[in-house]
Amino acid sequence: MERLKFIQYTAAAGAALMLHPFENLASASDKKIRLALVGTGHRGSSFWGKDLLKSFIYQVEFVGLCDINPGRLSYVQKTFGATVPAFKDFEEMLGTTKPDYVIVTTVDATHDQFIIKALEMGFNVITEKPMTTDEIKCKNILAAEKKSGKKVTVAFNYRHSVHNMQVKEILSKNRIGKITSVDFNWYLNVHHGADYFRRWHGIKAKSNSLFVHKSTHHFDLLNWWLNSEPVEVSAYGSLDHYGKNNAFRGTVCRGCTFKGKCKFYWDITKDDRLNNLYAKNEQHDGYVRDGCVWRNEIDIYDKMSAQIIYANGVTANYSLTTYSPYEGWQIAFNGMDGRLETWEDIPYLQKMPDDQSKHHAVEMSQADDAIAGDVREIMVMDNFAKNYEIFTTAKIKGGHGGGDIRMQKRIFVDKNDNPHNVMAGTREGAMSILIGIAARKSIELKRPVRIDELTDLVPMANRF
Ligand SMILES: NC(=O)c1ccc[n+]([C@@H]2O[C@H](COP(=O)([O-])OP(=O)(O)OC[C@H]3O[C@@H](n4cnc5c(N)ncnc54)[C@H](O)[C@@H]3O)[C@@H](O)[C@H]2O)c1
Repeated sequence: MERLKFIQYTAAAGAALMLHPFENLASASDKKIRLALVGTGHRGSSFWGKDLLKSFIYQVEFVGLCDINPGRLSYVQKTFGATVPAFKDFEEMLGTTKPDYVIVTTVDATHDQFIIKALEMGFNVITEKPMTTDEIKCKNILAAEKKSGKKVTVAFNYRHSVHNMQVKEILSKNRIGKITSVDFNWYLNVHHGADYFRRWHGIKAKSNSLFVHKSTHHFDLLNWWLNSEPVEVSAYGSLDHYGKNNAFRGTVCRGCTFKGKCKFYWDITKDDRLNNLYAKNEQHDGYVRDGCVWRNEIDIYDKMSAQIIYANGVTANYSLTTYSPYEGWQIAFNGMDGRLETWEDIPYLQKMPDDQSKHHAVEMSQADDAIAGDVREIMVMDNFAKNYEIFTTAKIKGGHGGGDIRMQKRIFVDKNDNPHNVMAGTREGAMSILIGIAARKSIELKRPVRIDELTDLVPMANRF
């Protein structure tokens, strides 16, 4: 079968999305937006710290930094130029600095305490995903936001990627008719996937498993793409590869006696930044960044699948694996009039080598340039058609497909730029984690779990 036609991404909203995100940034406002950040780990100090300042130096300034680890806090403060005050106490930071936004980038299970305290003290919040980790904390955040009259933005950067926005654009034009089912598979490779098992993410009490920590991104994409909310989840999951599933184990990679024979051995000291952030500050809080992936204490799943039933009748089949040779994903939407398929970074489909050991670092980098001559493809085929169409858009590998910087620009600069309701608040934050929370409960209870068992929110068939 030949490809019917290639269609460049030229729809009105799409054309605007393709503008380089740095365009128009020269028109800086007179008054900078004042930011206070809690959680000066990798995400807090890079994406929400130096990278944000690099891109939006005329628009934002930091007025306070806070972390539980004084060594990490002091190291990060220096990288900000040492003029930004550092605080051990969160409330003191807010009371003293009175920021325009509080940015929360701490360990997942602690987000709620900072979000709620900031709202109670009268501040707007931007929180990293997942909004929180269980249904009680979720309920408390929703109530605190309502009571405060302030706003929480949930940083769902994946929505803002140029590719994901194009999928939304095509679906919103009803291109394949009423959607009835979705198949969505996400593969984390043995480098990035393993990294979740080296530290707190591997403990349910801190992350509520990757069904919440990681899949919140994927469930949020599904909710947004489908413009609907979940009503029921059935799930399966187990720990087959990492944790107790190995003949030998240590505690930390540094100095490990199995260094020579462990394929997952990783030398944190070779990465200056991570060494300075974590290894050199372990004595303050015992947080080990290069823990053994075979530790017996690991209690999350490393293979997961879920079926989600939506209020608009769609059934979604989802899976996540964490020990794949390559990192990528694929999705297919089945509609009454046709089918849409797309994918990212599957080596045999992109017909291009991709160094898997560097894949995640590239994704986390803030490089926003399209890769010359390379595109992302979206296939659409109509029922009874003889051929299919391929929609193409620029392939941006850094900054989560260009989503990182576009999201920051929409938060801090173009506040009215909200194509397809891409900006996410607490309702979106809640609906995505509730799928993961329901999935974990479904595994434990060995039965389907309804979303209304977990929340007073009534799932909407059409969100907008
Ligand atoms: N959207 C994305 O693509 C993306 C990518 C990476 C991380 N994240 C999110 O960002 C957050 C941070 O991730 P990370 O990888 O930087 O984690 P991290 O563990 O490296 O950093 C968390 C920081 O919070 C601090 N902290 C923990 N408890 C605290 C407390 N009670 N008071 C003050 N500080 C406290 C820790 O000392 C640490 O410095 C997580 O919620 C994660 O899910 C999002």
